[in-house]
Amino acid sequence: MTATRFTQPVPTLCRDRDSVLILDQTRLPWRCEQRRLSTLDDAAEAIRAMWVRGAPLIGGTAAYGVALALGGGDASDAALAHAHRCLSATRPTAVNLQWALARMQGRLQPLPPAARAEAAWAEAAAICADDDACCEAIGLHGLPLLQAIAERRGKVRVMTHCNAGWLATLGAGTALAPVYAAHLAGIAVEVWVSETRPRNQGLLTAWELSEAGVPHTLIADNAAGLLLMRGEVDIVITGADRIAANGDSANKVGTYLKALAAHASGVPFYIAAPHSTLDFACADGAAIPIEDRGAAEVCRIRAAGADGEPVELQLAPDSTAAVNPAFDVTPAGLIAGIITERGIAPPNALHSLYPEAGS
Ligand code: MRU
Repeated sequence: MTATRFTQPVPTLCRDRDSVLILDQTRLPWRCEQRRLSTLDDAAEAIRAMWVRGAPLIGGTAAYGVALALGGGDASDAALAHAHRCLSATRPTAVNLQWALARMQGRLQPLPPAARAEAAWAEAAAICADDDACCEAIGLHGLPLLQAIAERRGKVRVMTHCNAGWLATLGAGTALAPVYAAHLAGIAVEVWVSETRPRNQGLLTAWELSEAGVPHTLIADNAAGLLLMRGEVDIVITGADRIAANGDSANKVGTYLKALAAHASGVPFYIAAPHSTLDFACADGAAIPIEDRGAAEVCRIRAAGADGEPVELQLAPDSTAAVNPAFDVTPAGLIAGIITERGIAPPNALHSLYPEAGS
């Protein structure tokens, strides 16, 4: 069975002459609007304020941020170092950001300053094309997992968390790539979408699945355990923001609870991620930095007003003590496999797919 290639209905990120257009994810799912980034500061703010989000897309935006910085006329070593510092400080957990910046640095530093701006645009485009290809390959490697379940049961019910679809990448997505591949191949696939408080990235997942015509059901995060226990989920697939050498995987907070419940219910739990999410320099999950996004996101919620305009509503007084770790770490022992662009590996055998990383 051959899947047709998935293409993004609106590009999450694309060059437009000397600037970059992004899809503003803080307006979704109520408004589908692009926003223009013209400077290094615009790119850094886009990542920090989560106009763009999702590990691979953060990396692509950072790469274009370097191009925007050098395109301003100063492509000196100091300008390159300044761009690197600014972008690197935006969000700490997704290693794709550091990966993309290191790749830009490695390509640009050896060049004379006069050649750097053009090379930066080209390298950013190559980073984005690389992610698109990775997403497609992840979809094709994950497809047989879903196909095998559908052959046994007549359909396959996938649970996911956060948004690891096309909105989070430069291609089809990571966790959702096998879902799109299955849907395009005519397999009956249904998705349980958890809302993902506090920022509700699950609404982004529901929006993109509905645009693609994939049957899905939105659930409150706390409903996941019951659905898993009742046998209403065949497989859990999430994305990741950083995977340590031993397979421990950081992803949106709440992923760990789903992995625990899946384990207790005998439901396989998979992570889907490209090479740019692997951090072999990080021995295990304890070394992964976890972003703290502050109390305001817990005390307030984004919703649409009666006119359909996105608005921020107060849920609890801002004086309420609240903490907001944005990610958690799922131990390798709870993960059945990691779906990468090179195939699927048990979490403790990632090295077998990436021998060049050493062991
Ligand atoms: O805070 P976010 O929305 O950037 O977090 C995103 C996630 O946790 C995704 O699951 C992860 O980046 C994988 S995206 C393909």
